[in-house]
Amino acid sequence: MKTRIRTLLAGGASGRECVVAGWVRSVRAAKEVAFVTLNDGSDMAGLQVVAGKDLANFDPVCRLGTGAALRVHGTLVESPAAGQQWELHATNVEIVGEADDAYPLQKKRHTFEYLRTIAHLRPRTNTLGAVFRLRSHLAQAVHRFFAERDFLYAHTPIITASDCEGAGELFRVTTLDAGAPPDFDQDFFGQRTGLTVSGQLEGELFALAFSDIYTFGPTFRAENSNTPRHAAEFWMIEPEMAFADLADDAELAEEFIRYLCRFSLEECADDMAFFDKHIEKGLVERIRQVAEADFVRMDYGEAIERLQRSGTAFSFPVEWGLDLQTEHERYLSEQVVGGPVFILNYPKEIKAFYMRQNNDGRTVAAMDLLVPKVGEIIGGSQREERLDRLTARMTEMGVSQEPLWWYLDSRRWGSCPHAGFGLGFERLVMYLTGMDNIRDVIPFPRTPRHAEF
Ligand code: 4AD
Ligand code: MG
Repeated sequence: MKTRIRTLLAGGASGRECVVAGWVRSVRAAKEVAFVTLNDGSDMAGLQVVAGKDLANFDPVCRLGTGAALRVHGTLVESPAAGQQWELHATNVEIVGEADDAYPLQKKRHTFEYLRTIAHLRPRTNTLGAVFRLRSHLAQAVHRFFAERDFLYAHTPIITASDCEGAGELFRVTTLDAGAPPDFDQDFFGQRTGLTVSGQLEGELFALAFSDIYTFGPTFRAENSNTPRHAAEFWMIEPEMAFADLADDAELAEEFIRYLCRFSLEECADDMAFFDKHIEKGLVERIRQVAEADFVRMDYGEAIERLQRSGTAFSFPVEWGLDLQTEHERYLSEQVVGGPVFILNYPKEIKAFYMRQNNDGRTVAAMDLLVPKVGEIIGGSQREERLDRLTARMTEMGVSQEPLWWYLDSRRWGSCPHAGFGLGFERLVMYLTGMDNIRDVIPFPRTPRHAEF
C-alpha cells in the first residue's frame, strides 16, 4: 500500500520505511547514485528519491525518462542537501510505466495555449497541478461553509424544460435515433428539453421548504462568446434563503467570498505561494486584504455616473439602461473601488423576469459582485414573491406562464421574501489563482468548437 507524498512528509519521522508511487519529474544520474524527483500530485514539490548503485536495476533507473511511473520502497531520511527537508533512500525501484523522449512535458516552460492542446497530460504540470488541487479543496470549502451555517444541499436537475435566465442559451437535449433526424419536441420527454443554465428556480422551491439551501453543480450555456471568462460548461454555486432580502443576500455573498479567501491562504498555502511567485505577483497580499475587507456597495445609477465621469474611452457605450460590459466591470472594481464591489438595483429591462421589482418602477433588486481582473463573479437578486407582480412582469416580458405553473404555485401558498445568488466556480478559481483564462481552471474545458476530450 502506497503513502501519498504530502501525507508522508507531513508525518515526517526519520528512518520510516514506506512505499511511494508517482511520476518522474527529473533524473540526475552520477556514477554511484541517481537522484529522481518523484511527484504524485499530492503536493508541488514531490519527493527526492536517492537510488544507489546497489539497486539491481540501477542502470535502467539512471536512464528513466520524465513522465515514467514508479513505485519506490525505501527509508525516509533527513536530507543533507538544501532544497528539501526529506529524501527517500530507495531499497527497491519498480519501473511501472516507461516514458520515452516523445513525452511532451519535458522539463521546460510551456505556454498555456500549448498545454490546452494536451489537456490529457497538463494536470501533471506544476501550474495546472496547483490549480486543480486548489479547485478540489475549494469545492470542499464550499460545502463546509454552508454546512457550518446549516444550509441544505439541494440537487437540482440537469435536464430541464425551463430556460431560467431567459437568455436563449439552452443546449437542446434529444435522443439519437439512427437514421431519423432529431425531433426536439416529440422525443423521450415529449417536450422540448435542454441542459440547465441555472438551478435557481428549483432551488427557490427548496428554499420555500427548507429555508436555507444551496446547489453546487454543472451548468451549461450555449453562449457563443469566445472570451477568457465564458465556458459552455461551468460549475455554479447557488444559495437561496427564505425570509431574506437583497441586503441579506449581499451579506451572505460577502461572508462567503471572504471565507474562501481565508481558506485558500490557510489550507493551500504552498500552492498560493506558487501562484504569487509565478502567476500574479502580490496575489497572496491581495487575497489577504479581500479576506478582511468590507465590500463596497454601489447603486447601478451611481456606477453609470462614475463610468461616465471617468473620461475613459470604453469600447461599449455607457448609459443608464444598458448592461455593464466586462471593461466597465473591471474599471469599477479596479479603478474606482480597488477591490470587490456590489452593484445593486439594475434596470429591470436588462434582468430576468424573476427579480423583485423596486418601488421606483424601473429597477429590480438585483446584485452583481464585481472583482478586479475577472469582472462579474456573482449574479443574484431578491426574488419577486408577489404573484400579481410576477405574472404582470412575465406578461410584459413575453415569458409564458403555463410551463412555469409549478413556479407560480410557490407564490400562491406560503410565499415569502427570498433571495439568492450564483457564484461561477471557475471565475472564483481564476480570482484566487490569478489565472487569466477560464480554459486553464477547468480540467477539460468546453468552449465553442472545443469538446474533444
Ligand atoms: O449572473 P448569472 O447568469 O445568474 C444566474 O444564473 C442566477 N440564476 C443565479 C442565481 O441568482 N441563483 O450567473 C451567475 C454566475 C455569474 O456571475 C458568473 O460568475 C457565472 O455564473 N457564469 C459563468 N461562468 C463561466 N462561463 C459562463 N458562460 C458563465 N455564465 C455565468
Ligand atoms: Mg449575471
